[in-house]
Amino acid sequence: MAAKTLSNQEIISARFSKDALEWDSNKKQVESCEKAFEAIKRHVPAFADGSSKNLDVLEIGCGTGLLSFLIAPHVRSLVGVDTAQGMIDMFNGKVGALPDPSKANLAAVNVLVQEADDVHVQGAAAALATRRGESGHDAPYRFDLVISHLTLHHIPNMGDLLTTLWKSLKHGGMIALTDYEDFGPEAVPFHPIEKREGVERHGIKKDEIADVIDGVGFNEVRVEQAFVLRKEVEAEDGKPAREMDFPFLICLAQKS
Ligand SMILES: C[S@@+](CC[C@H](N)C(=O)[O-])C[C@H]1O[C@@H](n2cnc3c(N)ncnc32)[C@H](O)[C@@H]1O
Repeated sequence: MAAKTLSNQEIISARFSKDALEWDSNKKQVESCEKAFEAIKRHVPAFADGSSKNLDVLEIGCGTGLLSFLIAPHVRSLVGVDTAQGMIDMFNGKVGALPDPSKANLAAVNVLVQEADDVHVQGAAAALATRRGESGHDAPYRFDLVISHLTLHHIPNMGDLLTTLWKSLKHGGMIALTDYEDFGPEAVPFHPIEKREGVERHGIKKDEIADVIDGVGFNEVRVEQAFVLRKEVEAEDGKPAREMDFPFLICLAQKS
């Protein structure tokens, strides 16, 4: 019998499920999420004008919730999705450890989101709405803001994902997606060699992602440098182990 070839999605879901237990103790991961949070606050107007508490947020690739738990106190609700069950288990463990989990305004589900009406996303959004006392919402739920950190580089078809995100938003809603920039072959060491299998691309390219977002029908598309993350990379190709600066982009756009 021929051996089954694993897809990139299967390889990275297995890897992230395994990595989930140690995820929050990775200082660089924590730092990058804190920097992404600061960038979102700088670039999404609702955080500056004091209206962020009205936002219902969808997060793609929420992982253990490092960014989600920073954002949640500032918004009305946050639904996280992730394809790695290990990540979702860690996220839910953190929700369960809150002083009153039954009042939490965030939840995460294990799903590969391919449509705006995905039953898992709709179910999570409905559960959070019920929790805050809403009843009789006309489904389907749509979001005010979609965020995603360090996940775009794992997405096989960014056009398909961006189309789903466009459909998942309310009119007037925004995306604010952060990931490291593909600034050429020097971006490859961002992942240690043993973690490169299954990685779809080594960062996102500024012009390419702007074209994808624009092509889907978003307005006011801006892709800007958000911050720089300095981290250690391993020795490779005759170069010693060293610290490198990795630029991160924030992809902003609106559904009018
Ligand atoms: C580098 S981790 C980042 C996790 C989290 N955003 C953070 O910064 O801590 C990428 C995450 O994206 C998830 N992921 C990869 N492809 C995905 C997809 N198509 N849909 C949802 N999540 C995905 C992985 O399971 C993993 O948890």
